Amino acid sequence: MDEREAMTRALDLAWRGWGRVAPNPLVGAVVLRDGVVKGEGWHGEYGGPHAERAALAAADDSVKGGTLVTTLEPCSHHGKTPPCVDAIVAAGIRRVVAALPDPNPIAAGGAARLRAAGIEVEFGMLAEQAAAQNAAFLHRVADASRPWVALKLATTIDFRIADQAGRSRWISGPEAREFVHWLRAGFDALAVGVGTARADDPALTARGEPAPRVPLRRVVFDRAAELPTTLRLVAERPEATTVVAGPDAPDERLRALQARGVQILCAEDETAALRLLRESGTGSLLVEGGGRLAGAMLAAGLVDRFYWITAPLWLGDAGVPAVRGLPSRPLDQTERWRVVERRALGGDTLIVLDRR
Ligand SMILES: NC(=O)c1ccc[n+]([C@@H]2O[C@H](COP(=O)([O-])OP(=O)(O)OC[C@H]3O[C@@H](n4cnc5c(N)ncnc54)[C@H](OP(=O)(O)O)[C@@H]3O)[C@@H](O)[C@H]2O)c1
Repeated sequence: MDEREAMTRALDLAWRGWGRVAPNPLVGAVVLRDGVVKGEGWHGEYGGPHAERAALAAADDSVKGGTLVTTLEPCSHHGKTPPCVDAIVAAGIRRVVAALPDPNPIAAGGAARLRAAGIEVEFGMLAEQAAAQNAAFLHRVADASRPWVALKLATTIDFRIADQAGRSRWISGPEAREFVHWLRAGFDALAVGVGTARADDPALTARGEPAPRVPLRRVVFDRAAELPTTLRLVAERPEATTVVAGPDAPDERLRALQARGVQILCAEDETAALRLLRESGTGSLLVEGGGRLAGAMLAAGLVDRFYWITAPLWLGDAGVPAVRGLPSRPLDQTERWRVVERRALGGDTLIVLDRR
C-alpha cells in the first residue's frame, strides 16, 4: 500500500467516529512499514484514545522506521488522553503524513514537536477530502458566530418535496432513509419549519446506527409560535425541542409551549437565530426542510452543505417546491457549488454539495 492509499483508508476509518466524537474531529490513522500496513486506528469515542495512538497500539510488530499516515496533525497536548506526538516519537516512527494541520490552538503544534524530534512531517495529502469530512469541526474552530449548517432534502426529479396534498412519505426509498438516520447522528441539532412539523408530525430523532453520543436537539422555526402541542415534537421529550419564535410571537403561545417544557429562542431573523443556537451549544445543524425554511436559509447565505437525495419520480407543478423564496440572479452572478460526493442509495441518488 502506498501513502495515498493509506490516507484513503485512514479517511474511511475516521468515519467510524461519526456521531460519537463531536466536538472532537473525526480522525483515522494507518501505520506503514515498507509499504505494509502494520496497524490501523481511529478516534472512536469522545474522551477515548486518539487515532494515532490506537493505530500504534494495534501494530502487530515493530514499526520503528515506519510511516504514520493520519487525517489530522497529531496532537501535542494533554487533554483527556496524553499527547499523540509522545507515542509517535517513542515508537520510532520516521515519517508522518497528515492531511490537515490541526486548527485548534489548544491541540496544535504537533508537527513542530515531531520535527524537533527528527521526524519528517508532510501535510496536504487528500486535504480537500479530509476538510470535507471534518467540515463541522473546522467551522467550529474558525467561526463562533453560528453552527455549521447543512440542508438535507429528498426531492423528485422535478425538485418537489411533497405532492399537492402535502404528502412527502415517502419520496425516497429505504436505503435513503437509512442513510438519513446515519447522517442525523453526526449533528448536534436537527431543524424543520413549522409547516413541516404540521404536515409530517416528525419525531426528528436518529433511529439507526450509530446512536448519537449526545441526544439531538430538535429545532422548529416558527415565528408565531404556533406549533401545535399535540405534535410529537412537544408531546414526546419536549425538553429536547427548541422553538425559534419571532419577536412578535404572542406571549400566551410562548407560555403554553414553555409550560410543556419546550425551550424558546426569540430571534429577528435566521442569522440571529443561528447565533443564539450556537451560543446555546449547537455547533452543527441539519436543516431538513421544508421548502420555505430551505429557501430562507439559502437566501441568507447560511447553508454550508446540501445533502440532496433525488428520487426517480415526477410530481408536477402542483407538488410542493423544494426551495421557495430564493431571489433570482443572472446566470453570470450565481455561485456554483462544489460536488463533494455522488453515490447511489438504492434507487435514489445522493449528491453532496458544498458552497465554495
Ligand atoms: N421531501 C423532503 O425532504 C421534505 C422535507 C421537509 C418537508 N417536506 C414537505 O414540505 C412541506 C412543508 O414545506 P413548507 O415549505 O410548506 O414549510 P416549512 O418550510 O417546513 O415551514 C414554513 C414555515 O416556517 C415558518 N418559518 C419560521 N421561520 C422561518 C424562516 N426564517 N423562513 C421561512 N419560514 C420560516 C413560517 O411560518 P411562520 O411565518 O408562521 O413562522 C413558514 O410558513 C410538507 O408537505 C412536508 O411534507 C418534505
